[in-house]
Amino acid sequence: MYHTAHDSIVKPLTVNDLAAMKQRGEKITCLTAYDASFSALIDKVGVDMMLVGDSLGMVVQGQATTLPVTITDMVYHTRCVSHARRRAFVIADLPFMSYATPMVAAQNAALLMQLGGAQMVKLEGPRVDVVSFLVDQGIPVCGHLGLLPQWINQLGSYKVQGKEPAAAAKIIADAHQLQEAGAGLLVLECVPAKLAKEISAQLSIPVIGIGAGVDCDGQVLVLYDMLDIGTIKRPRFSKNFMPGAASIEAAINAYHQAVKQSQFPTVEHSY
Ligand code: KIV
Repeated sequence: MYHTAHDSIVKPLTVNDLAAMKQRGEKITCLTAYDASFSALIDKVGVDMMLVGDSLGMVVQGQATTLPVTITDMVYHTRCVSHARRRAFVIADLPFMSYATPMVAAQNAALLMQLGGAQMVKLEGPRVDVVSFLVDQGIPVCGHLGLLPQWINQLGSYKVQGKEPAAAAKIIADAHQLQEAGAGLLVLECVPAKLAKEISAQLSIPVIGIGAGVDCDGQVLVLYDMLDIGTIKRPRFSKNFMPGAASIEAAINAYHQAVKQSQFPTVEHSY
């Protein structure tokens, strides 16, 4: 990496830094990113993590779901993001069917890390077999429970998960199993705030919420939703941070500060 005399060398955050933030009660901020320009801006604001989400299928490619996103797409966007960041921790999604077996998952995770520069990969669902195999190869993994967009054809619609006691108990059990399998982070999407609070308190790994209430250890939003530049309807749990902000950078900073101070999400953006 080239540095001018005026540049200070900033070390990227590690999974241990994120764990330490949970330990000291500091909220972790995360936004999705898909290209170098937004990556540099998000990083400059000081957001702790960037997720190269397969949501890019919907917000960048204009697809109806995340299912058409390929590993080649993910490697390309992950490389764009990781080239421009200095400090933020970079996670990349394993797309639909790229982790059908542990070996396939390992090969695709290797592409995201070796060619894309990701520090961690994320996969949806209670795939304990895959998580433990990846962790055994030295690949850090983020779990993802609650609403699973890659399962949309089984779910039928993007709705809140874990409302019924049995469904909530299953998410709690799955969260523990993912942690035991070695997951270093967990994303909880679109679940009741009370359930997310319980899981965040029970797990030792950081729990990052999206539509999961204010008591998670951190928050993530889809960048295009919070800047209100998407072509699809913003979900109820998201918030447009542009009103009142003088620039995109100011809106990203407003989100970063609101999460750090536990002012986002409010009840209005929770279930
Ligand atoms: O793909 C994505 O952007 C995600 C977030 C919604 C968590 O997985």
